[in-house]
Amino acid sequence: MVKPFTRKDLAGKDVEIITKGRWGNADLYLLHQGGENWVIKDFFPCPPLIRKTWGRFMVRREFLALRTLAGIQGIPADPFLLDAYAVGYRFQPGNTLKVTPPDRIPDTFFFEFEQLVLAMHQRNMVHLDIRNRKNILVTDTGRPALLDFQSSLNLENTPRMLHKIMKDIDISGVYKNWSKKKPALLDENRRARLASLNKKRILWFLKGYPLGTRTDRRT
Ligand SMILES: Nc1ncnc2c1ncn2[C@@H]1O[C@H](COP(=O)(O)OP(=O)(O)OP(=O)(O)O)[C@@H](O)[C@H]1O
Ligand SMILES: [Mg+2]
Repeated sequence: MVKPFTRKDLAGKDVEIITKGRWGNADLYLLHQGGENWVIKDFFPCPPLIRKTWGRFMVRREFLALRTLAGIQGIPADPFLLDAYAVGYRFQPGNTLKVTPPDRIPDTFFFEFEQLVLAMHQRNMVHLDIRNRKNILVTDTGRPALLDFQSSLNLENTPRMLHKIMKDIDISGVYKNWSKKKPALLDENRRARLASLNKKRILWFLKGYPLGTRTDRRT
């Protein structure tokens, strides 16, 4: 896709800060341009060593994941590389699942979210940080969106024996959030699957911040 703007353009634009990173995290901006809203995830403000290694790697990983998942509803759309240190994509109006009270979440939400995650798996991608409720949006139309592909993996580059366990990590994240926010709608089968996944020690080991792909945001 053609870049909607460059880093040079940023100076004169209407930009709001979404979150300010500390040394290992990106800054996130919301940028308004011609009636359209974009998110920029930028590692440029990180110390040079971090920016040139970790930052570049994270930006590329997120960009490639979003490109692979393009067209799936609920995945940030129209990703582009601003440069080696920043990735951009469409802003999706809504609130994170973390701050959304259960009565503001439609009953269809988790069924749709499960479908979204399965559609991602069909493209051979796993997210691996779905338990983090700040990575899930309840959009203004009440639909799910999945954010933050910094921990994601393309299964084509991963040993086959790990595929199922990695998909299970995602599914356990879906059901965990479902059981927290809409427990009455989590049926017996899914509940039993969550219980059995929770017993797998390997999942305990891998879930959360797997494979050393992130640092804590301390702000
Ligand atoms: N496409 C988007 N549309 C709307 N809001 C977004 C979008 N992308 C990110 N955000 C907002 O920015 C926050 C942080 O995004 P993201 O998780 O990708 O960055 P992060 O560096 O991993 O931050 P954190 O450490 O807080 O998880 C999200 O919780 C969400 O509130
Ligand atoms: Mg995040």
